[in-house]
Amino acid sequence: MIKIDSLNKSFGRIRALENLNLEIEKGELLGIIGPNGAGKTTAIRIICCILQPDSGNVTVGGYSIYHDQIKIKSMIGYLPEEPNLYERFKARDLLKYFGELYGVPKNEINGRIDELLELVGMSHRADDQINTFSKGLRQRIGIARALIHDPEVIIFDEPTMGLDPATSRAIRNFIKELKGDKTVILCTHYMDEADLLCDRVAILNQGKIRNMGTPESLKEKIHGDIILQVRVNEPQKIQKDQILAFDSVEGVNLEGNQFLISLRSREDISSIIDIFGEQAISVNTKEPTLDDVFIQTTQ
Ligand SMILES: Nc1ncnc2c1ncn2[C@@H]1O[C@H](COP(=O)(O)OP(=O)(O)O)[C@@H](O)[C@H]1O
Ligand SMILES: [Mg+2]
Repeated sequence: MIKIDSLNKSFGRIRALENLNLEIEKGELLGIIGPNGAGKTTAIRIICCILQPDSGNVTVGGYSIYHDQIKIKSMIGYLPEEPNLYERFKARDLLKYFGELYGVPKNEINGRIDELLELVGMSHRADDQINTFSKGLRQRIGIARALIHDPEVIIFDEPTMGLDPATSRAIRNFIKELKGDKTVILCTHYMDEADLLCDRVAILNQGKIRNMGTPESLKEKIHGDIILQVRVNEPQKIQKDQILAFDSVEGVNLEGNQFLISLRSREDISSIIDIFGEQAISVNTKEPTLDDVFIQTTQ
């Protein structure tokens, strides 16, 4: 559905995207995860025909960003990082304005607006002005606006950033509902969100994809089955080589004063803990999360 081919984009000396390649299947929910400044928003703005790349190509449903911008814009619903909503509009009027702009048939538009307001839980605020809405309520209206023309492709840029847990959950639920029916790109730096929602995840850092796969396969690929976490007083006193010498150890990472040791099995755990001796303040084991994958990949 979306094909990104050797995409490059620089802003002055900053290389925001470096030879980016990515394919997104129809009906897939793809997560693009990466730290601030990784290039996520730049990639999305190019797909949405808001920004021109320096080189490379993107097609959406076979249409090219160079030749078919109007067609592509009509196929995509885009929720920007900070949706710019017209403050003086009432919620319903804003949706009507965008519906007409995107050519939603006149006899369908009111029904469509009611349906969307219901979906995002805003029916009771339909006739209130946007400037009376909190960030979470604006985000809901932003989602309704992105969906007004029933686009095939929906792109969310950090949809739950800065929202309270209940609103974040509600928004994750809308995204989940779109799954399978629509092609969705979700940019986020919340790993639990990506893990919960995405079929596949691309880890982007400094304009390049560092890793790609299903959340499960990424967790398996980077780590063994278990992570041993040992917090210590003075990390410099621990010799990593001694830990790496065990057959079951796949890798050792130091994060602050905590060692993260990926293990294939549990058999050497007690011997490994012995190495830390009195240095160990706390010891834990856990299953790997996407967070661990992310940290390893982007360090
Ligand atoms: N309009 C712009 N002008 C100058 N630099 C920009 C512009 N947009 C993005 N950048 C830079 O490009 C890099 C990638 O930014 P962005 O795509 O917004 O990252 P992300 O969305 O992953 O946080 C950053 O270093 C950012 O400062
Ligand atoms: Mg961004």
